[in-house]
Amino acid sequence: MNPDERFWLLRDIVKQARIKSLHIKNFKSLHDIKIDFPTNLTLAIGPNGSGKTALVEAIYLLKEILYYIRGRNPNPFGKWWGYKNVVWRGDIEKPIIISLTIDLRNLFSRVKALEEYVRNHVYEISSFMVDMLDEIVSKSPIIEYKVEVFDKGGYIFINEKISHIDTGLEITLTRNNVVIRYSNGSQIELTNVYTPCLLLDKYDEATRFLNTGISIDNVFENIYDLFEDILEERVKDYSFISSLLAWATLVFGTLIDGIVGIREIDLRSIRSPQTLIWYEYLDHNASNLIPILYRIGKGRLPDNVLRALKVLFENEHIGGFFSLTPEGTVFFKLVIDDLELPPPSIPNGVWKVMAIETALALNPTILLIDEFENSLHARIQEYLLDEIRENGAVSIITTHSPIPIDYAHDLNEILILENTGYGTRAYRLKNIEEYKKKLEKLGLTPSEALLYGFIKD
Ligand SMILES: Nc1ncnc2c1ncn2[C@@H]1O[C@H](COP(=O)(O)OP(=O)(O)OP(=O)(O)O)[C@@H](O)[C@H]1O
Ligand SMILES: [Mg+2]
Repeated sequence: MNPDERFWLLRDIVKQARIKSLHIKNFKSLHDIKIDFPTNLTLAIGPNGSGKTALVEAIYLLKEILYYIRGRNPNPFGKWWGYKNVVWRGDIEKPIIISLTIDLRNLFSRVKALEEYVRNHVYEISSFMVDMLDEIVSKSPIIEYKVEVFDKGGYIFINEKISHIDTGLEITLTRNNVVIRYSNGSQIELTNVYTPCLLLDKYDEATRFLNTGISIDNVFENIYDLFEDILEERVKDYSFISSLLAWATLVFGTLIDGIVGIREIDLRSIRSPQTLIWYEYLDHNASNLIPILYRIGKGRLPDNVLRALKVLFENEHIGGFFSLTPEGTVFFKLVIDDLELPPPSIPNGVWKVMAIETALALNPTILLIDEFENSLHARIQEYLLDEIRENGAVSIITTHSPIPIDYAHDLNEILILENTGYGTRAYRLKNIEEYKKKLEKLGLTPSEALLYGFIKD
């Protein structure tokens, strides 16, 4: 297996973990919200200023914290001109807290099946990994990862906490300290540990190992050893805790690394000549769309992108090609029948569709799309929603348009946001069956009831 295939395999495994809930505190208007995920697709709706963009940004912040830990971004709050502007009501004494609760059961089944299948084929998942995960899951399949970020005199600090829900075991990690708290109230504190302890630091290390061609099971053992070195001789159940932390590193690191977000699209950049650089991530404004497409399609338009464009134009004779210029830029032309369109002549909706399909081709763990409907005709919106549902990523899509709402498979997919004086309230409809009956009786569509407020829950 080459590194790309390894990352892909890891992504596929981690996507089996079901995200149960998300909890955000003190990010902009999200003073304290908890969201559960009954379905993979969530359509977030609400008036202007209700916190839809804030929701998408808060989740994306996890990825920016990973960049920060990797040393790629000196301050994750730079784009907002500082922490003060983002934390709830400017109170810099408060931390921003984001936590994800996941259920590892399906992930365990997948890993176990893989190990049995690959035993004689590809050596990526070892029985050591499987046994360790078995022990974790049999004690409690639900794990919470919580990251706390705060500003102290202009420096950004990060704490993480892993909670093994049913056993009550909690491990708090900061760069140099580890605190282990057991359900009986006893606590072990290890201070001034010599290696960075944060799970995201270890994930960063893991990805570097994977990139140099080391297999997943060796990487797992490496991380396990790093934690074991810290805990051995000081903690009785060091082996269990090391494996919990090693698994949490792979799972939450991959989950966070796999977040793909699309916000307002920077059409000007997309339409200008793009330098061909090997980009790892799609920018949230899709400005590097063309080089990314070139990379993932190996010089051709990926199939899913092409299919979507055929739907958009209702025309089978759609194509596209890339060409490289001597100056090192990559150039894209869309072909409709015999007509060749250079980037400045390609319609806005086409770019939007290409950006969303590219995000899907990147096999995201969590997909975030702000203002989904912009530039998109009704038919292609429905097509994209089906594609997003099929992808298996947990997807959060914000919209003001009735089309996605009336295309919801279940009213469960809809998340309603309201900005109250005490911050955003986020909730799903409670009595869905009753609500549906009410709609039917009144002859209203869900969008009429929800967007135009004809009935309230
Ligand atoms: N530091 C902060 N503390 C508290 N509230 C904040 C802070 N910063 C921004 N806000 C509020 O958070 C909300 C953020 O709204 P957001 O941009 O997410 O709205 P939206 O639902 O995306 O609206 P639109 O549909 O217009 O894009 C705004 O109401 C804003 O006043
Ligand atoms: Mg917004």
